[in-house]
Amino acid sequence: MQAYRASILWFAPSQGPKVCAHWEDDGLLVVGTNAAGVQVVHAVGSYSSLIEDYPLVPVNHLHGRILAPGFVDMHIHYPQTNVIGSPADGLLPWLENYTFPEEKRFAEPEYSTQAARFFVDELFRNGVTTAMSFASSHHQSVDALFNEALSRRLRLITGLCLMDRNAPSELLNRAAPGNHLDSTEQSLVDSEALIQRWHGRGRLGYAITPRFAPTCSDAQLRGAGQLAEKYPDVWIQSHVAENKHEIAWARALFPASRSYLSTYADFGLMRPRAVYAHCIHLDEDDRYLMRETGAAAAVCPTSNLFLGSGFFDFEGADRVGYKYGLASDVGGGTSFSPFHTMLAAYYVAREGQTKTGLSLNPQHLWWQHTAGAAQALGLDGTGGKPWVGNLLPGCEADFVVLNPQATPLLARKTSLAANLDELLFAMVVLGDDRLVEQTIVA
Ligand code: GUN
Ligand code: ZN
Repeated sequence: MQAYRASILWFAPSQGPKVCAHWEDDGLLVVGTNAAGVQVVHAVGSYSSLIEDYPLVPVNHLHGRILAPGFVDMHIHYPQTNVIGSPADGLLPWLENYTFPEEKRFAEPEYSTQAARFFVDELFRNGVTTAMSFASSHHQSVDALFNEALSRRLRLITGLCLMDRNAPSELLNRAAPGNHLDSTEQSLVDSEALIQRWHGRGRLGYAITPRFAPTCSDAQLRGAGQLAEKYPDVWIQSHVAENKHEIAWARALFPASRSYLSTYADFGLMRPRAVYAHCIHLDEDDRYLMRETGAAAAVCPTSNLFLGSGFFDFEGADRVGYKYGLASDVGGGTSFSPFHTMLAAYYVAREGQTKTGLSLNPQHLWWQHTAGAAQALGLDGTGGKPWVGNLLPGCEADFVVLNPQATPLLARKTSLAANLDELLFAMVVLGDDRLVEQTIVA
């Protein structure tokens, strides 16, 4: 066992967006190994009330620092680190001119390996301890990222990107030489082999990953849905309703479905643990479909602002009550930093605010990138599932050590905070990787 003495931020157990942050000015976080050999939180609370219960446990004194749950990034693309900041008129030209050319490089195992190492470094530097990431359409890229995450103890969900049409040939899933399967069948066989190799190993999880409906045939989506049925605790990840041109394309390719989103439902791809990035241009029936199926939205505000895609409707999501959490969407997104993402979410929510004057408060923003995102991913400790994104007893011991004095302006502004909201807001608005002094996982 080990203990950490500092200020501590965590969240009350909660089923919805009405969140309550807990704050302990002089706190103690006690972590130790559970019966399964995983480092988890044993106790959290005030130093004075807890220290007598742990007289022999060594204490790390972190004066002036804040401990907070490690961040959960619900949607990111590890093959797009180099694509950050590539300007384009919108999603489809951005994919064609920058993203697809870079993803082709991930056919090379060495390229994937060095990219995976940089990517995991960057997540940790920014305080992200759980990530759901796309890989490329090459199985080598999936192995490279899982291998890196395994050795670094990152909680990671990824999977083979499924694309069997409407993309450059180097990125379409390939038939293996000398066997009888076509490329679509091969992509599904490869996905299943990767599930068996990686899902549930250490802190790793597999996601069945149709890139988006326009680059998948009916047969590929159907096969992905069958895999999802066969492996109910595997995740699903894709994109939906990000951009008007994309939506028109998807509607033209799947005219029998009621909407772009319901295309996925029609192929058995909406259920708990299915995560759809963006969900910007949904209608009310779509929102209810999200809720009824238990799927979750990954909200990607820096990406949506950068690519001019639109504004996620936070009020609509809360009114209907479907699950969502925050995500960077690097390289459409402009930063690995959860602070940048939370600030962008605040701007987006302000843009959409109605007469109620509601906008996201900092506790809610922070929750959406930690405990709320974990809940949306189904990593909330219920039913024997792993539990991340919070610092309650039983949570995996993933946390960040924040230094509110990290820059002169942060030091000046945080010292003026009169309450928790003001302190959290100062960090959301002024924070970046400099605020994250250490990231501690498991
Ligand atoms: N839609 C399909 N592929 C992508 C991608 O790589 N990034 C984003 N933002 N949207 C997509
Ligand atoms: Zn994406």
